[in-house]
Amino acid sequence: MTSLLSDTPVSDTSAPLTEATTPTDAPPADVAPPTDNSPLSEDAPRRVRNDDAPQATATGDALLGSHSADAYAELMHEVVDALTERFTRVDAPTSANDRASLESEVAGFDLDCHGIGNVAALREADDLYARNAVWFHHPSYVAHLNCPVAVPAVAAEAMLAAINTSVDTYDQSEVATLMERRLVHWASRHVGFAVGDGIFTSGGTQSNLQALFLARENVLRAHGDSTRRDFLSRLRVLTTDQTHFSVSRAAFILGLDAEAVVTVDTDATGRMDAEALAELLRDIDETGGIVMAVVATAGTTDLGVIDPLTSIAEVCEASNVWMHVDAAYGGGLLWAPQRRHLLAGIGRATSVTIDFHKTFFQPVSSSALLVRDVALFEPTIHHNDYLNPEAEAHSAEAEPNQVDKSLQTTRRFDALKLWTTLRARGADEIGEMVDTVCDLAAEVRELLETQPDFEVLGASDLSTVLFRFVPATARGRETDSATADELVPMIRRVLFRSGRAAVARTTIDGTPWLKLTLLNPDTTVADITAVLDLVRATGHGILAGRYLESTTTEGGAA
Ligand SMILES: Cc1ncc(COP(=O)(O)O)c(C=O)c1O
Repeated sequence: MTSLLSDTPVSDTSAPLTEATTPTDAPPADVAPPTDNSPLSEDAPRRVRNDDAPQATATGDALLGSHSADAYAELMHEVVDALTERFTRVDAPTSANDRASLESEVAGFDLDCHGIGNVAALREADDLYARNAVWFHHPSYVAHLNCPVAVPAVAAEAMLAAINTSVDTYDQSEVATLMERRLVHWASRHVGFAVGDGIFTSGGTQSNLQALFLARENVLRAHGDSTRRDFLSRLRVLTTDQTHFSVSRAAFILGLDAEAVVTVDTDATGRMDAEALAELLRDIDETGGIVMAVVATAGTTDLGVIDPLTSIAEVCEASNVWMHVDAAYGGGLLWAPQRRHLLAGIGRATSVTIDFHKTFFQPVSSSALLVRDVALFEPTIHHNDYLNPEAEAHSAEAEPNQVDKSLQTTRRFDALKLWTTLRARGADEIGEMVDTVCDLAAEVRELLETQPDFEVLGASDLSTVLFRFVPATARGRETDSATADELVPMIRRVLFRSGRAAVARTTIDGTPWLKLTLLNPDTTVADITAVLDLVRATGHGILAGRYLESTTTEGGAA
């Protein structure tokens, strides 16, 4: 059949590109394909210059475009050189500047001034930010779940920032959407979802929120007979006392009652007790509640343990309940040859959170929410005429719009970092690094157990170590547990202020503990021994100071 528009010459570029002029996705014949002058290809010159130098524009080098490409390149080289210098020289995990001096430094900048120029501003940022940064790659940074980052991912971060893709609709992202989808399917397959799907998010907090949002809407669908208001008041989310706080905050954001988050008992190691879970499910059912989701954790934030996923899956399947696995921390084990078996059962979950910016060595942010079936997104899809119109959603030409699945609209192409990491290093190399940090944690724990002035708690499946300084005597006086309790936050603060080591602190069952989170595969036992020596010396120093203070006060009173 001849299209009414078929007379329109395809060379007429003023004509709208209707379906008739472009029956396939191929470009019109006279539109030359882009030349393959990749500046990164082996034989291409390092920088590509047009013979016709781009004309200067009114905005000069303020905005990135052809006219400012050279200025951009120079600025980037300058930043990279400055950072290279910093990485070569950094010898402490934090600056020893106290907060008051940092506050006054920050306050000293005029943010309403005339611009000082790109180079000057970046030099200034290097001096303010980089000079005072907290360095996660330093072997004495052992505080939180922050990792050193994969080099190709850092370079990819610069690439995605410059191009500034937004992975919300296909027409803003094209190949980026396809690459993200490919990665999501890759990760889903590793989880064990045969036809899984998912979306990249800003982090574990957002992935958990979205998991509970999907759970709420799918469960509501399944209880179509009750009104939303009645339904919300009956919903329950089952967690443990070790579940990440983002889960209860998500329940709050989703409008659940304060008592909706119910705590399942844990065993002595801090893992969810699957029998207690089964009992609780029966109780909730008998009392008219509706279980919206059971949240198991694969790698709790403090103890680093994995809930018994297989047993929990059995209980959830028997009751037809949504099982979410928060593997924000433990997700990297999927690729760790020595430990991937610890995640057995994860493929039976309904949804899974994985943070690539924790155990896949990605720069923040890089996380994904994965679901076992793409249809689970269905009740939360929103169509908008200007982005993903409903009229097109089911047509043959429907475009893959990630905004259908994402809570965000404009969204970074974080997936590029993971993509380049996989291509550059391979998942196995990353998985081995995860094994290495877990081995290191096990060694450090064993070491601590041999030292009488340290107490250790639990045995992590991952890479946290909980311990505290408990000297047998302090200047001849028995040090009681209360003193050890008090020392925990003091040691952390003094060490942090000194800039020499960053350790974390937490409280388990009412007792304070220092926490090491080991996520740097280049860190050695000797590095950690040095941190432990600092902890010990700081503890002794605090006790000695107290002793001096008390004797001076007593002396003064006499
Ligand atoms: C188990 C767990 N889930 C979720 C989160 C939240 O992740 P994010 O900080 O990326 O939002 C964390 C953070 O430490 C975590 O440990």
